[in-house]
Amino acid sequence: MKTVIVIGASGKIGQAAMKGLGNHRVITASRSGEGCDYRVDTTDKASLRALFESVGKFDAVVSAAGHCEYAPFTSMTDEQWEATIQGKLVGQMNIVKVGLDHIEDGGSFTLISGILNVKPMPEGIADATTSGAIDTFVKCVAYELPRGIRINAVNPTVIEEAWSVYGEMMPGYQPVPGALVGKAFERCVDSFITGQVIFVDA
Ligand SMILES: NC(=O)c1ccc[n+]([C@@H]2O[C@H](COP(=O)([O-])OP(=O)(O)OC[C@H]3O[C@@H](n4cnc5c(N)ncnc54)[C@H](OP(=O)(O)O)[C@@H]3O)[C@@H](O)[C@H]2O)c1
Repeated sequence: MKTVIVIGASGKIGQAAMKGLGNHRVITASRSGEGCDYRVDTTDKASLRALFESVGKFDAVVSAAGHCEYAPFTSMTDEQWEATIQGKLVGQMNIVKVGLDHIEDGGSFTLISGILNVKPMPEGIADATTSGAIDTFVKCVAYELPRGIRINAVNPTVIEEAWSVYGEMMPGYQPVPGALVGKAFERCVDSFITGQVIFVDA
């Protein structure tokens, strides 16, 4: 049994991730802290440091946290770009940067990206761009991680549990069950893989 911190645990992807982590001691966190063990803001390194210090020893961090703005490129404002870059990309890089000072030897980080960087949709440019950056970050930073620490990304299509929110924006996409995305997170935490992007698509 590993101790796994799930950040963004209250969200749709966080709930899906936890379906695959039943064999572990799971500690939950989110921005508001509602329904979770801890409150954390991934865009604030001090907040992440406080979370990791409070938890103490842990073997894995699963990130399901992310905020994205949706708009056509021609009308996307600087503020919308900044909110997505900080909320989805930089926040997850912060988890790794700060988490490295605290995670056990042989531990793992698993980040969330999303299918839009390989299957673009209208108004999805900020999500697509940050998802591509997360996939690249994971593939390349894996070579630099010390102490046998691993890193992977889960890159899912929309999940069934979120179809009521995104379905209208995504004609022609087939949602997948959250439990399948949970399997991808499980594999990232329990296997020996590193530097991988696990696509979950129909
Ligand atoms: N839903 C899908 O089908 C799907 C598919 C592929 C990829 N994704 C990606 O997965 C990520 C999560 O999506 P979701 O649908 O699960 O969203 P969601 O239901 O809105 O949940 C987002 C979660 O992240 C937390 N969070 C947001 N910003 C945070 C921050 N700065 N610090 C800490 N926690 C933060 C939220 O906490 P609070 O609620 O407390 O604010 C919540 O727990 C997004 O990047 C999304 O693009 C989603």
